[in-house]
Amino acid sequence: MTDTGALVAHDVTDLGLVDEGVRRIEWAEREMPVLRQIRERFERERPLDGIRIGCCLHVTTETANLMRTLKAGGAEVHLAASNPLSTQDWTAAALVAAYGISTYARRGEDNETYYKHLRTVADTHPQITQDDGCDLVTLLHTERRDQLPEILGGTEETTTGVIRLRAMAADGALTFPVVAVNEAETKHLFDNRYGTGQSTIDGILRATNLLIAGRNVVVAGYGWVGKGIAMRMQGHGAHVAVVEVNAVRAIEALMDGYQVKTVGEAAGWGDIFVTATGNVNVFRREHFEQMRDGAVMANSGHFDAELDLPALRAMAEGHIRDVRPNVQEFEIGGKRLNLVAEGRLVNLGAAEGHPAAVMDMSFANQALAAEYVVKHHAELRPDVYTVPEAIDQEVASLKLAAMGITLDAMTPEQLEYVSSWQHGT
Ligand SMILES: NC(=O)c1ccc[n+]([C@@H]2O[C@H](COP(=O)([O-])OP(=O)(O)OC[C@H]3O[C@@H](n4cnc5c(N)ncnc54)[C@H](O)[C@@H]3O)[C@@H](O)[C@H]2O)c1
Repeated sequence: MTDTGALVAHDVTDLGLVDEGVRRIEWAEREMPVLRQIRERFERERPLDGIRIGCCLHVTTETANLMRTLKAGGAEVHLAASNPLSTQDWTAAALVAAYGISTYARRGEDNETYYKHLRTVADTHPQITQDDGCDLVTLLHTERRDQLPEILGGTEETTTGVIRLRAMAADGALTFPVVAVNEAETKHLFDNRYGTGQSTIDGILRATNLLIAGRNVVVAGYGWVGKGIAMRMQGHGAHVAVVEVNAVRAIEALMDGYQVKTVGEAAGWGDIFVTATGNVNVFRREHFEQMRDGAVMANSGHFDAELDLPALRAMAEGHIRDVRPNVQEFEIGGKRLNLVAEGRLVNLGAAEGHPAAVMDMSFANQALAAEYVVKHHAELRPDVYTVPEAIDQEVASLKLAAMGITLDAMTPEQLEYVSSWQHGT
């Protein structure tokens, strides 16, 4: 265990969990060879020397390895949770007591504490922000406008955060550049699709222990996340129907072999409902009314707004009980509807989030994007930037190499052929 002497500032549930946290963080690290290589280079080159980084990310073992990487690069890092239910208390303990990283996160914290933690990170005057869902950037642009000139730039992890940032940029409200890590191919193609696909099912299974085979599963949203969930649900033998509002995505779902239904059609058909739209109130009162006894609902989109939970609570008229850890039952007119992980990100609330092997690439992008902001902030305008192609390629190449896979290179003849316009039939 790393001994950092006096403890850094923190607010975590139980520092006694430090050893368990270290064991789990080291376990995750074994699956994160790309991030490890970046950390080793950062230790040598110190590209983030003296830079204050404020992070609002899920406090998981994979995030801990990102925090270690930023610190190795010379940064002063302060971390708050990006969701009240996703914090692993053992990870928070280890970050503070073993790795010397200020962490403010308690699993199950209420909204007030969540924002208190975010404000504590803002109090450290970050020069770079790292968000998962744009909450830190929003806080700085609303309550802490005086701090905005201190900020060199930021990075954003998820689709919902990127959508918010684009809306801010379009309004002329964004005051510093933000790199949309989610837009990197080495992020959303793998993290959103395979990571969320697997871990969403992991969360639903840990919470309910239901058999998926033969069940009717409704997936709302056929973006990267929805595609992964539908694919893995089908792999478990479910009949999958997709709900969409985008015609192209709906055709894609059909041709991938799923049914496409409206929310209204799906409500009375499904046994398990999973939302992944990034939108609000996809399933509402009229749909809850149609759902069958025993239906299970879960959300894998960023905010707990995809299911109309106030309506669900009102309809149950107090007949709500915890039937298992992470499962609440709502009794409505004699039938029982079940909600997993309070409608919050089910893969983080009821399981451990994405497997480390996939976060390896996402967080390699985060670390390299932070380095990019330090190097290039003077050339960047207040806008949303995609991750430079060179970073994407570097992450993919390091990942392949770590997997022991060698990539072909084009022969000189092939290079000449693809660059020429004179070759015909
Ligand atoms: N659980 C996780 O760990 C995790 C990981 C990555 C992303 N996310 C979140 O998941 C959500 C989806 O991400 P994504 O990358 O798939 O986004 P995406 O933009 O690729 O896909 C969203 C899809 O939802 C559809 N949609 C929007 N409103 C709808 C509605 N009312 N009904 C049906 N479909 C609707 C859109 O047409 C789109 O096809 C976001 O909130 C994102 O932040 C969660």
